[in-house]
Amino acid sequence: MATVFLAGGAGYIGSHTAVELLNAGYDVVVADNFSNSSPEAIKRVEKITGRMVKLYELDIKDNSKLAEVFRENSIDAVIHFAGLKAVGESVQKPIMYYRNNIDTTLALLETMKEFGVNNILFSSSATVYGEENKVPFTETMARGACSNPYGWTKSMMEQILEDAAKADKDLSVILLRYFNPIGAHESGMIGEDPLGIPNNLMPYVSQVAVGRRECLTIFGNDYPTPDGTCRRDYIHVVDLAKGHVKAIDYILANNCVEIFNLGTGTPYSVTEIVDTFEKVNGINVNHVYGPRREGDLAELYANADKALKILGWKAEKTLEDMCRDSWNWQKNNPDGYNGKKETLA
Ligand code: NAD
Ligand code: WQD
Repeated sequence: MATVFLAGGAGYIGSHTAVELLNAGYDVVVADNFSNSSPEAIKRVEKITGRMVKLYELDIKDNSKLAEVFRENSIDAVIHFAGLKAVGESVQKPIMYYRNNIDTTLALLETMKEFGVNNILFSSSATVYGEENKVPFTETMARGACSNPYGWTKSMMEQILEDAAKADKDLSVILLRYFNPIGAHESGMIGEDPLGIPNNLMPYVSQVAVGRRECLTIFGNDYPTPDGTCRRDYIHVVDLAKGHVKAIDYILANNCVEIFNLGTGTPYSVTEIVDTFEKVNGINVNHVYGPRREGDLAELYANADKALKILGWKAEKTLEDMCRDSWNWQKNNPDGYNGKKETLA
């Protein structure tokens, strides 16, 4: 069976993808600098699957270290998860974001070329559609103007990968545009473990539920949506991970340059998330309504038809599954992987 190299594979989406690739019979090699993750995640992937993962601690920007990994393993395809992803932080520290996200991509492409590896999947984001395009977003739409440096790194990396594939006909590239991944593996052994105060909704909700944060602020209830709160296309991380397996199957069988939305196609509001979380888990989530957060769009969701048509993939899990599994992870691991996080915001 083929070997897949996961750059940044100890993180939230990478660890779930590792489980699904191993379950599908692929061999998995992971490299991560643990800037936003823990090696414990990979130990748990091994426990869940009963399979071994070769793990390297290194910075993906480091070409010479990366070359060692490619020398020691016969890699068939790469998935590039390694990136910094906090939108607000990217506004404060744009240079750090451009340096890390772009350089990891360039180092991977250079090393792949050196070792004759011709298949790469890239973790892109719905954020590249920008503000101009109308929902639902389809892959044929042009990339839009991003509202923050994080988004621009994704947009630029898409361009870099497309240009590289244009110049090198052997190189196959799949850009996977994720919508809003939430949830966790049903074992409750791996999940999202953000450092410090969470930026994203679901980790915040579950940390309030577990008592690590006092109260959730819902950012705005005067949007032009059915209940006035923003709507997003939340997708269960296990469905998302299975989408990667389908994309790996596809890229190993086809010389291609493709873009796929990985979303459900159905938007839910912030209030629906909080209500569903409380209902399925039988737990209260303290919340108040506050002002809008700068840069938020009212509504954002995918047209997910292309992934179904070409990859034969569609999200199967429900909002209830997402809320139940997020909470299962959080209550089993109240302080994340290492148990040395701060207590209250
Ligand atoms: P994550 O932070 O949990 O995972 C990213 C991993 O990359 C981490 O383990 C981190 O330590 C590692 N990393 C970062 N820079 C590195 C470097 N220079 N060298 C080695 N390792 C490095 O984030 P995630 O949610 O799993 O996201 C994975 C990818 O998907 C990211 O590129 C992210 O931008 C993208 N994405 C995430 C979301 C989301 O909402 N979670 C949505 C769209 C796209
Ligand atoms: C979801 C909704 C908030 C926190 C971001 C990135 C995007 C992609 C996914 C990587 C919004 C509301 C949130 C809170 C709230 N990441 N909210 N109170 O902003 O849709 O997307 O993550 O590529 O690029 O921008 O996700 O989870 O931050 O917010 O009311 O404390 O929850 O206003 O409507 P977002 P999010």
